[in-house]
Amino acid sequence: MDGVIIMIRKLASSILDVDFTCLERELRKIESGGVDLLHLDIMDGNFVPNISFGPKIVESIKRITSLPLEVHLMIEKPENHIKSFINAGGDIIIVHYETSKHLDRLIQNINDADVKSGIALNPATPLGVIEYLINKIDFLLLMTVNPGFGGQKFIPEMIDKIKKARKIIDNQKKPISLEVDGGINLDNISEVIKAGVEIIVIGQLISKSANPEITIKKIKNIMNQ
Ligand code: DX5
Ligand code: ZN
Repeated sequence: MDGVIIMIRKLASSILDVDFTCLERELRKIESGGVDLLHLDIMDGNFVPNISFGPKIVESIKRITSLPLEVHLMIEKPENHIKSFINAGGDIIIVHYETSKHLDRLIQNINDADVKSGIALNPATPLGVIEYLINKIDFLLLMTVNPGFGGQKFIPEMIDKIKKARKIIDNQKKPISLEVDGGINLDNISEVIKAGVEIIVIGQLISKSANPEITIKKIKNIMNQ
């Protein structure tokens, strides 16, 4: 089977829009559907126009789930907060290219802490900016909406960006997971998968669903077709 690359597709569920008064119950619903990762959206009201939650909540979530925690930092000066999110139990730390003046140092610091690292790119940010960093990260997260809110519309031009990112990743020696975040629904999953994505982040399609368990199963069926 020389030269055949088997891609394992994963579903990451964003808890941004779950009912936080019943967080544990909401998590159990997501877990029973069979998601692979929990995606935690950290927003500071500066880099993005919305505020979500911080390390304290991440720590509480860590205590009640065994799913890997993917921390998506949408915050200015991420270097000031990396440590607390790692200590809180983040397994994957994703920082936005647009938020750091010294991204290489930041990625090194994350890697040195023995957790997985990732870079997120806003829709308008070209892929070329990560040319000299791609081999140091484990995840490349392409935003398919402008970050800040759940429930937005997928930006169609991102399909082309996903295809280009796939080619760049396939030319690297080390495995890097290509991930998309924002506006994914039952109608566009197949196209996104076909474009070459491995991990799909989904928020409201799951959290606003009357039966998250069934919705997750439907999503995973489409992903594995
Ligand atoms: C947006 C966040 C997303 C969001 C996705 O800034 O990064 O993770 O929760 O939500 P949906 O799937 O509802 O677009
Ligand atoms: Zn996110």
